[in-house]
Amino acid sequence: MPADLIAPSILSANFAKLGEEVDNVLASGADIVHFDVMDNHYVPNLTIGPLVCEALRKHGVTAPIDVHLMVKPVDRLIPDFAKAGATYITFHPEASEHVDRTLQLIRDSGCKSGLVFNPATPLTYLDYVLEKVDMILLMSVNPGFGGQSFIPTALDKLREVREIIDDSGLDIRLEIDGGVKADNIAEIKAAGADTFVSGSGLFGQGRDSDPNRYDSIVAEM
Ligand code: DX5
Ligand code: ZN
Repeated sequence: MPADLIAPSILSANFAKLGEEVDNVLASGADIVHFDVMDNHYVPNLTIGPLVCEALRKHGVTAPIDVHLMVKPVDRLIPDFAKAGATYITFHPEASEHVDRTLQLIRDSGCKSGLVFNPATPLTYLDYVLEKVDMILLMSVNPGFGGQSFIPTALDKLREVREIIDDSGLDIRLEIDGGVKADNIAEIKAAGADTFVSGSGLFGQGRDSDPNRYDSIVAEM
């Protein structure tokens, strides 16, 4: 299994000082920046696009940026995010008309590709495209909002995907997103995840003025 990565979801960061928030959480030991893109169509919320990704790069963020697209249609945003500095681009297969084509488009744009599964989305979408996937992201909440509770059935699904990845012998990351906190991360890891998104578990802990505010939480994870 690849080394564990902590992926802070900036959805719960203070957007008025996003650069500083990202600098602080990375300095505290987090590994990659999880970047939630919502379009008020595929999900009932509206967030950020390629301009903000580009702004983080211009600010000096060199860590991988993990763009989680919760949008429909998917394809037209991919070249823009690639140009804006995305490292990973993941999307929900049911939001794409042609899943294989979208995965190929992500790789052809120079990024790593990934599929995202909502709690009730079947894993059969993996059947014919596994070789084109660099990351599998399991949602442990329904997408659209930070701060929701972890749905426990995600643990069984994680175990299932861990087996699919291990049997394939492919180099694929297994990411979990939604309700991940310091107090449940151990059982989530035991179920097979290697990449842990955490938004409200990290940001917004009421210590906005303390530059070391994320140190102890990241250390616990
Ligand atoms: C939800 C997003 C998540 C969210 C996680 O649609 O994909 O990345 O920010 O937030 P928490 O960790 O608060 O559940
Ligand atoms: Zn996400």
